[in-house]
Amino acid sequence: MLARGRGAVVNVASTLAFAGSLPPDPLPVRAVYGGTKGYVVTFSRNLAAELDGAPVRVQVLCPGLTATEFHLTQGQDPVAGDGARVHDDGGMPVEDVVTASLRALETGEVVCVPGLVDGEAVDRIAAAEFGLRSSSTSTLAPRYQNPAQQ
Ligand SMILES: NC(=O)c1ccc[n+]([C@@H]2O[C@H](COP(=O)([O-])OP(=O)(O)OC[C@H]3O[C@@H](n4cnc5c(N)ncnc54)[C@H](OP(=O)(O)O)[C@@H]3O)[C@@H](O)[C@H]2O)c1
Repeated sequence: MLARGRGAVVNVASTLAFAGSLPPDPLPVRAVYGGTKGYVVTFSRNLAAELDGAPVRVQVLCPGLTATEFHLTQGQDPVAGDGARVHDDGGMPVEDVVTASLRALETGEVVCVPGLVDGEAVDRIAAAEFGLRSSSTSTLAPRYQNPAQQ
């Protein structure tokens, strides 16, 4: 893509990349799925940053529940009741997910969450991450220090 001077990569993650471990509903039996989707988000954001200014765009698409066959093909023993509930809910039509992805490619949005009304929420996550990384020092934080040595 770089050699030919154009291209786009869309990696499909999930909203389950975010907050999957948090109460009140930590994901059941989804550690590998959530972890993998988290990897896809981080990998894609880093790759997009590496390619900043290049003629190849990178997007990580993070759908929520989507009306595909996904939840019917989870194997012989899905999470109890999950398949039925998912297909009662229906999820977002595939066409809408694709529309969001293509629009985000046009606007240059790297993290595309089709059902997220407040698009700036993604920027706030990035700002919080930057704050965490940039305020971390090479000195052991007080809460980790041995109380007897303080
Ligand atoms: N559906 C949702 O609610 C939802 C929500 C968030 C994220 N996602 C993500 O969206 C992506 C697509 O899922 P989907 O909902 O469209 O599921 P799907 O309807 O089950 O489709 C999965 C697709 O992946 C292909 N596939 C599976 N294993 C493969 C392999 N080893 N090599 C190559 N192709 C393979 C299947 O091809 P065959 O049909 O030929 O097997 C099928 O076309 C996944 O990454 C999923 O995690 C889905």
